[in-house]
Amino acid sequence: MKALVIQNGFGLENLAVADRPDPAPGPGQVVVRVRAASLNYRDLLIAKGAYNPRLPLPRVLGSDGAGEVAAVGPGVTRWAVGDKVVGCFFQGWSNGPITEAATKTALGGDRDGTIAEYVLLEEGGLVARPGMLSFEEAATLPCAAVTAWHALTAGGCGPGKTVLLQGTGGVSTFALQLAKALGARALITSGSDAKLARALELGSEAGTNYKTAPDWDKWAKAQTGGEGVDLVVEVGGAGTLERSARAARMGGFVALIGVLTGGGTFNPMAVLMRSITLRGIYVGSRAMFEDLNRLVVGEGIKPAIDRVFPLAEAADAVRYLESGSHFGKVVVGIR
Ligand SMILES: NC(=O)c1ccc[n+]([C@@H]2O[C@H](COP(=O)([O-])OP(=O)(O)OC[C@H]3O[C@@H](n4cnc5c(N)ncnc54)[C@H](OP(=O)(O)O)[C@@H]3O)[C@@H](O)[C@H]2O)c1
Repeated sequence: MKALVIQNGFGLENLAVADRPDPAPGPGQVVVRVRAASLNYRDLLIAKGAYNPRLPLPRVLGSDGAGEVAAVGPGVTRWAVGDKVVGCFFQGWSNGPITEAATKTALGGDRDGTIAEYVLLEEGGLVARPGMLSFEEAATLPCAAVTAWHALTAGGCGPGKTVLLQGTGGVSTFALQLAKALGARALITSGSDAKLARALELGSEAGTNYKTAPDWDKWAKAQTGGEGVDLVVEVGGAGTLERSARAARMGGFVALIGVLTGGGTFNPMAVLMRSITLRGIYVGSRAMFEDLNRLVVGEGIKPAIDRVFPLAEAADAVRYLESGSHFGKVVVGIR
């Protein structure tokens, strides 16, 4: 089969569409013919060796994929050939709290990933494709949407709540759509005025440009009558965390998700002075994915897809993601 592989060393120059052996299902396993995959910032970090510099290579990239069950192994009862499905980010986290063991089962990291014609999954590591979504749309859900859902539900998002989102990438655009569906107000930042206009169309109540107006914490407070927002979906990391804590209300919630600004230090004073709950979020379980899909179907949520690349151009798709010019999700279509 063809697959997007990082091989012979880290670095985007070592990413290529290459031949890999077709996977075969063992007991309790399923092979899915992938029809679409989506990219996440994590794929860039993995390809560059910044996520896990000890990751054994070659590795098929990609945590997100949707397709049809092509073969089932002995003992599989949940799925049959032809079922339309979406893979879970963690193959070993069905429900309940996260465990150390579950974190070792991520696709496109610990295991070969989804940007391939076929992917090997555990029987418990899939969900049914939400019926009204295309394969391309469904392939955007496993990492970004489940993470956004986990963050919002952990932070008590609902009617009367105000949520602050950073940038217009995959996690943040899903968080915008989901926060709206849950009845909350969404505020958003972006480094692009054109993207802010698109975020307003998608349902954000207001937006500000973090490049031209770097005091976005003060802006967010002003949008909430000086009180601060209930919940921040924090994807910037060390470079934004302090402002996020200052943008939150007393006793507010900051869901710590991303590292877009890289590593570094941050001053924790605002976290304690404002009694902020700071909570790390690591994607989510299959049960969270299933809960998310009920909302997606119930509210008719259509993921914001920026662009679909063919598999032959999957390495270009990763470079496109790196450019940061996308709004929402970048998808690889696999026929
Ligand atoms: N913890 C988890 O389980 C988990 C899950 C998913 C993602 N993540 C992390 O979350 C982050 C976002 O992931 P993603 O896949 O959504 O990324 P993405 O789709 O590549 O989004 C990147 C976007 O973030 C915005 N951005 C960049 N620098 C920013 C800054 N300093 N302040 C505010 N916004 C900034 C830009 O949007 P504009 O052009 O609009 O400014 C950029 O286009 C990454 O660090 C990723 O590793 C973590």
